Formats: sequence, structure tokens, C-alpha cells
Amino acid sequence: MEITMELRKFVAPEIITGVDARLMVGRYITHFAAAKPMIVTDKNLRTFQWFQDTMEEVGKYVHDCIVFDDVTANPREYEVMKGAELFLAEKCDLIIAIGGGSPIDCAKGISIVSSNGGYILEYEGVDEINLPGPPLICIPTTAGASADVSQFAIINDSVNHLKKAIISKKVVPDLALIDPVPLMTMDPYLTACTGMDAMTHAIEAYVSNANSYLSDVRALDAIRLINENIIKASQENHDLYTIYLMMLGSLEAGLAFSNASLGAVHAMAHSLGGLLDLPHGECNSILLEHIVNVNFEFSVERYTLIAKQMGLDVENANQEDIKLALLNWIRTLRKKLQIAGYAFVDTLNDEILDKLSEGALADPCLVTNPKLLTMKEVRAIYEKILRRREK
Ligand SMILES: [Fe+2]
Repeated sequence: MEITMELRKFVAPEIITGVDARLMVGRYITHFAAAKPMIVTDKNLRTFQWFQDTMEEVGKYVHDCIVFDDVTANPREYEVMKGAELFLAEKCDLIIAIGGGSPIDCAKGISIVSSNGGYILEYEGVDEINLPGPPLICIPTTAGASADVSQFAIINDSVNHLKKAIISKKVVPDLALIDPVPLMTMDPYLTACTGMDAMTHAIEAYVSNANSYLSDVRALDAIRLINENIIKASQENHDLYTIYLMMLGSLEAGLAFSNASLGAVHAMAHSLGGLLDLPHGECNSILLEHIVNVNFEFSVERYTLIAKQMGLDVENANQEDIKLALLNWIRTLRKKLQIAGYAFVDTLNDEILDKLSEGALADPCLVTNPKLLTMKEVRAIYEKILRRREK
């Protein structure tokens, strides 16, 4: 495999992996010399025993803490602004994000605004943040988003229904506590969708124009780990070890994409999820096979190695057969995970297709896709994957 000698950087937070890693949170409150943390989380998580155990641990180290749980899936700009206002009013000095990508991205937004002021959507784009935020500890509860290790924060602009990507070293958390215990309470469909999000991170990072040796190693291992464990992890009777392997796969995929960036699947999924408020992992799962199809000939060697990591027998196969085998396996995986091949919408017209395509073309993730996609090509893919919902 060709290794680039162009300049590349690799950024990662401090990471602790293992069973009950979340309970290290108390010790790190002391390390950061914090007196009043703000917990940013999802309302649905607060009833679980593992959540209460975590809060108990926090309580051993501080007398006072604020919980902010006004966060929806695909976090909105006004949720970030509300959280930042509360953080400053309560004079908090540390953020602990507990949840999937949505609460963690919201926490990152709160961190940016609380130290830099202004309006969160002003920070859209690459390296637009000046000051670092307060320390941020993340306890992820899904094996997919990897916001707990990444330089990305995705915030939904609720006025224009567009997801805005904020990419900066300043949003890399200080500490990620990678613990499989919280994931044991996760719904199997959510496990499947978030797992496919992680798989997409690894594939897009590996074929990205900004790949590097350090991101390649992580991306390839992530593809293998996720491929071997995603089906078992998405079953009702999943076990802790399988979930842990999925978390490691997702972690490695997160480190890879945080540094190598993503591609057309994410550019199109951000636009789709933003306009129609659909789950991120579902959008990626639907789009992945279509993007691999158009990208394949622009990165044949790398897609062949991806196929090998997925255990496909492509040793003596020609280019077309390798592509078909890879597409077939990605489709099979999606079907085995019971994720639909289409996104269903109430209204399907030219205006929606144009808006979706314009959003994807403006997304920074499109820049690192191996093939430079045109508006026409992006629109054609949206036409393929959208279906009008029957009333
Ligand atoms: Fe993603």
C-alpha cells in the first residue's frame, strides 16, 4: 500500500478503555481541579443504573453539579446556546458529556460558546475557533459517533434545516472514558445504525484524500473489528465482550476520521439528516453502497484492502468482481441489520432534491472524497435512495 510522505498531523484525547472506565470520572474532576461540573446528557439515560452509579461517583468529588438534558437527537443551535448560558450563569468549570453523538456534540458547542462568546453557528468550518473551552470529559453510550475522540461537532441549524460541521482541534475532548457497560442498555436497532456509522467512518477515512499512515492503521483495524462484531452486537442478547470489541472498532474509526476527515457519504448524510431530521447512522447505512459504487475506480487498491479486511475472498479477482463483492457484502450487512435501503419522506419534489444536493456540495466532508462529485451526480444518488411515504 502506498504511504504518503506529505505533511500530516494526528490529534487524540487522553483515552481510558475497559469495563467501568466511566467511574474514573471522579478522579479526573480532581485532576482538572474542577469545583462545579455541568453534565450534558440525554433525558432517556438518566434512569439507568449505570448512569446513577456515574453520578454517585461525581458526587464523591464535588458538592454541586448542574445537569443539562435539553438535548435532542441531531442537536440544535438553540440547545447549545441555552446550555452555554446555563454554564456561564452557574459558573461551571468542567463539562462531562454522557451519551451518544448528540449530547457530546452539544457539549462541544457549549464549550466553544462559553469561552469564545458569540453564536455557535458562526464557528462552522475548519479551524474557526480561537480559544480552547473548559475541560471536556466524554462518556460515550454508543459505539458509532466517536464524537468523544474527534475534532468534529455537528450542530443542526434549525432555521435552515442544515447540519453545520464545526471542525477544530479545539473541540477534541480532554478525556474519553470508553466503557462498554452503558451500551448494554442500548436498543439493538440503534446499535446497528451507530455501528454502520462507525464502519462508514473507517471506510471514508481510509479512502480519504487526507489519509495518513497513522489514520490508515486505525481505519483498517476498525473495519475488521466492526465487520466481525456488528451483527452479534446488534442482537437482543449481546454480551459485554462483543460490545467492547465494537467500542474499540468505533474508537479506532473515530481516531482515523477525526484526522483524515470523511467523504461523500457523510456530506450527503449531513444534508439528508439535517433537512429531514433522520438518524445519522441510518442515513449513512443507506448511502454507503451508492458512494462506494461511484468511488471504487478512483481508489481501487484501497477498496480492495477494505474488502480483504471484511474477509472477502478477492485474491485473484478482477477489479469489477472485487467491486461487486464489496457492494454485495455492504448491502448484505445492511439487510442483516434490518436497516432499510431507502429514506422515506412525506414530500419528494425538485425543491427538496435541489436543497439536499446544495447542502451536500457545501459540506466540508465532500472535499476529501476520492472522487470529485458534481451536483448532478449527488442529486442522482438522492433520487435513488428517496421514496415517498405512503399515507
Ligand atoms: Fe458519522
